[in-house]
Amino acid sequence: MSQPRILSGIQTTGNMHLGNYLGAIRNWVELQSQYDCFLFMADLHAITVPQDPKTLAENTLKLAATYIACGIDPEQSTIFVQSQLPEHSELAWLFNCITPLNWLERMIQFKEKAVKQGENVGVGLLDYPVLMAADILLYDADKVPVGEDQKQHLELTRDIAGRVNDKFGKKKRYVLKVPEPMIRKEGARIMSLTDGTKKMSKSDPSELSRIDILDPPD
Ligand code: ADP
Ligand code: TRP
Repeated sequence: MSQPRILSGIQTTGNMHLGNYLGAIRNWVELQSQYDCFLFMADLHAITVPQDPKTLAENTLKLAATYIACGIDPEQSTIFVQSQLPEHSELAWLFNCITPLNWLERMIQFKEKAVKQGENVGVGLLDYPVLMAADILLYDADKVPVGEDQKQHLELTRDIAGRVNDKFGKKKRYVLKVPEPMIRKEGARIMSLTDGTKKMSKSDPSELSRIDILDPPD
């Protein structure tokens, strides 16, 4: 019998920290034996904020190495780079055409990141969750293990799937599988070390705010 499928990814925006490990990767490692796992490096999501191309390529490889070092077994799980599969962007475009703008304007992460970008907010930042919906729905994923901060994006993914099914599905024949979020209570939201009201994040300019997985022991 085939196993249920899991899909998840991490942006290739810098060094991985304890929040990424406890909120995401640690769970993937545990789930590997019971699920058919698709785990990827989200480089198309990374470019929603400015990136240096050379550093982006290095970070993508580094993230893959970190997955493996943390215990993801490439013999057991499928590891891939998002931008290598044009289907992600293609499906995102189709979803763009049926997603109401106000669904995206409500996203908390967009509002937070848009403030940081000032006047130069790219359309990609607003569209970020639509690409994420494409990542997930393309693979018929049953479950999506992520940290708490991604909950709203997963709800949007479910809404997009529901809309496609309503518009294009036939009675009892859905087009897209509606995935379930998988958010563990423990480690779902590790806080910043410099501001206890914010989550630990790769994009925080202060290195003191986080513990990176690759930090030396001292
Ligand atoms: P970041 O916000 O640091 O750039 P990502 O957005 O790439 O991290 O997140 C990758 C995964 O790690 C997601 O599943 C996300 O929910 C999880 N994650 C990120 N930060 C935290 C945190 N502080 N606590 C728990 N999980 C987190
Ligand atoms: N947006 C996620 C994050 O910042 C990364 C991501 C992109 C993702 N596509 C995904 C996570 C699909 C789960 C499923 O953490």
